[in-house]
Amino acid sequence: MSEVTVSRTISAEDPIPEVKNVVLVMSGKGGVGKSTVATNLTMALSRLGHRVGLLDADIYGPSIPTMFGVSGRPVSMDGKSIEPLERFGVKLMSIGFLLEDSKAAVIWRGPMLHGALQQFLKDVHWGPLDYLIMDLPPGTGDVALTLSQRLGITGAVMVTTPQAVATDDVYKSVSMCEKVNIPILGVVENMSWFIDTAGVKHELFGKGGGQAIADFAKAPLLGQLAIDPSVREWGDKGTPIVKAASDNVVSSSFIQIAEKLLEVIDARGGDHAAPVIDRSGGPGGKKRLPVTKS
Ligand SMILES: Nc1ncnc2c1ncn2[C@@H]1O[C@H](COP(=O)(O)OP(=O)(O)OP(=O)(O)O)[C@@H](O)[C@H]1O
Ligand SMILES: [Mg+2]
Repeated sequence: MSEVTVSRTISAEDPIPEVKNVVLVMSGKGGVGKSTVATNLTMALSRLGHRVGLLDADIYGPSIPTMFGVSGRPVSMDGKSIEPLERFGVKLMSIGFLLEDSKAAVIWRGPMLHGALQQFLKDVHWGPLDYLIMDLPPGTGDVALTLSQRLGITGAVMVTTPQAVATDDVYKSVSMCEKVNIPILGVVENMSWFIDTAGVKHELFGKGGGQAIADFAKAPLLGQLAIDPSVREWGDKGTPIVKAASDNVVSSSFIQIAEKLLEVIDARGGDHAAPVIDRSGGPGGKKRLPVTKS
């Protein structure tokens, strides 16, 4: 096992002080592969010898139960904290584990959503971890904002696909991270190309989006991932491809992305900005819309 010495800034109020690094996997855009990247990055870091957990921060559309093939219910040993589920040697928590009916919609307003997220941090017994990966929902960043106000975050991995309609939204995510002091650790370009049975490469969604986002974020392009139907098939079957088919080219890409991410985290050191704790009663709390009085 490799030694993880770098740690995020952990304040006295931190809900998970035993977790050395928190990495958000996010994107302004839906369906670009955030959950696929989060699950496979989790497995890749675990394969590289680290203690890893994965928190499904997508309350309305949790994917982790399906992608890890887990349907059990977390239990509590002491009646207070919840034990995360464990699969393939990594710790998992998702709202999907707590729902009576996985097909039923979660009808919660913002404050409940943020309350659930906080419980996932405070009340889940994550124990000592080198990396806690968080799979974020699509959007500019309500969830990222809440998280940034609750704990020190090592940084974010931005996921994009190559085309402009995706990158337009991802720029906004990068900008939002900058505003709330979340460092961008790197960019992953997913669905970069498809190689057909004759070996011909097709750039179905154009090219250059990942590099453009990386330039904008002043962060490295951690890697590009091919479109491969087996990525989806394994995701649906509940075993991330890095675990299911380690010789697949996409699995190798994920391992390289994980190695590069570790280099970036190491190079940055542990000296990150602490969270800006918001005591105004939660996001939006007592704040007013910036309307100028006439
Ligand atoms: N490189 C790839 N090759 C083939 N299929 C892929 C690839 N990446 C993702 N997929 C598939 O695309 C679909 C969307 O991926 P995923 O759920 O990871 O996206 P997401 O960004 O998390 O979506 P959401 O915004 O809904 O949370 C899934 O069915 C997944 O298996
Ligand atoms: Mg997702």
